[in-house]
Amino acid sequence: MNEVELIINGKHVVAPEGSTILEAARLNGIEMSTLCAVEGLKPKAACKLCMVEIEGEEQEKLACATKVKPGMCIATDSPSLFSKRKALIEEMFRQHTVDCHHCLRIGSTKAEHFDPKFCESCFFCDCVRDGFCELQSLALRFGVDKLPFEIQEHDFGMDSSTGSVIRNMDKCIKCRRCVEVCERQGVGILGLRKREKGQTVGAKTDMRNDGCIRCGRCVEVCPTGALFMAEHKDEILYYAHQYGTQTVALLCPDAVEPLEKLYGAGFSFEQVAAALKKIGIDHVFDGRDAEALSQEKAVELLNGRLGKAPLLLSEKYAAKSYLQTRFPDLSERFAFYDSPLKCFSDFAKAKFPDAKLIYISAENGCGAEALETGAVDYFINPRELYRIFLRTGGAPSRRHPVKVKHIPVEPISALYKDFLSESVWSIHGSLTEMELSKKGHSYRGLLCPNLLEAKKAIEHLDEADAIRILA
Ligand code: SF4
Ligand code: SF4
Ligand code: SF4
Ligand code: FES
Repeated sequence: MNEVELIINGKHVVAPEGSTILEAARLNGIEMSTLCAVEGLKPKAACKLCMVEIEGEEQEKLACATKVKPGMCIATDSPSLFSKRKALIEEMFRQHTVDCHHCLRIGSTKAEHFDPKFCESCFFCDCVRDGFCELQSLALRFGVDKLPFEIQEHDFGMDSSTGSVIRNMDKCIKCRRCVEVCERQGVGILGLRKREKGQTVGAKTDMRNDGCIRCGRCVEVCPTGALFMAEHKDEILYYAHQYGTQTVALLCPDAVEPLEKLYGAGFSFEQVAAALKKIGIDHVFDGRDAEALSQEKAVELLNGRLGKAPLLLSEKYAAKSYLQTRFPDLSERFAFYDSPLKCFSDFAKAKFPDAKLIYISAENGCGAEALETGAVDYFINPRELYRIFLRTGGAPSRRHPVKVKHIPVEPISALYKDFLSESVWSIHGSLTEMELSKKGHSYRGLLCPNLLEAKKAIEHLDEADAIRILA
């Protein structure tokens, strides 16, 4: 690919031809403030924070929507850009319910008095993202502490129709990351909507009615407290401390890294287990065992059906409901098997029939499965676990590691191991082809990183033997 030479902030840099100024800046280690542009998503040019000055141009240009040209001379920061960005951030608060940042304990709303670490452990404010919100961080960076206008009364309200994926439209800043992700999931129910009190982003009626599959992917990209998984921290803490009630948790390893990012500190899986024990959880089991049990179910299914007719294979609750509603005529091809959550539930309900079961994973789609199947009592993701630990002073880094309990499980058959283990959902990933073999025959397997790719693969269903879908 050809390269273009240009100057950013006085530094000579090169970038691939056709890249945007934002891509060129990031490629060369130049930090820029953005809200709507995240890696892997098409920017909607919605936030305008990435505006830059280009020599010879009268107006600022958006770095995420402007392609680099040879010899371009760009400034990503200047006093004028700073004040324009500050004004844009202030504007985002015009219709935003702010229940963070106003601290009764330090008696100040000034940005320079705002200490996220202090705020995290206070909990006077009640926003689900307090202390780790991109809008809050930008407000802090640009010194937004007094708005030059009255906050408009809006009250777009909550959409909690799904019970698991919750939208608080009063905190939406219309960046439209969720719109893009929902499109990537082949669902596309979100968009800019006109309401009586102004514009917001949401479903036409509500998420459940419009066909949300409760995959929880939009929650992962929302920069504010506008999208979150239903929280259960009060119930979990109540049962963890209730005499006579047993609590049993399954800790999936995928929860550890996001938790470390939230803390900005490293710790081990066993230290997270110790922190759970510290807050009163009686038994902590290893999520890898439930994963292996689920894979055993898939192997059983593949052994019985592979090679007879193309299979649509998934353990994900969202993928199952997507396929059932959108492709009912393919029901004979569905090869659905028990998820790790269901496998844990079967084991724990037999061993601890009266216990409260808690499933801890970064996989937000499990929230809907827990709620709608009753397989476990509560699902919590790393963000909520972080809030629980902050409230109880249970930071994993301060705990001595403990042994995690194991669910008895057979080693997984090597035959399909890669196909079943490589299961990372991705916004922008493409299909991965894999060869599966059984009794000397080889079969064509396809891994779909999201539902949009799955939809494309289904159009050529007969060209594959097994399509595994990671909704
Ligand atoms: S979304 Fe962010 S800025 Fe808004 S109330 Fe929550 S933490 Fe504060
Ligand atoms: S809900 Fe979140 S991701 Fe979606 S537009 Fe609003 S702020 Fe952005
Ligand atoms: S949970 Fe999934 S299907 Fe529902 S709105 Fe979010 S991205 Fe779309
Ligand atoms: S990042 Fe360019 S407009 Fe938002």
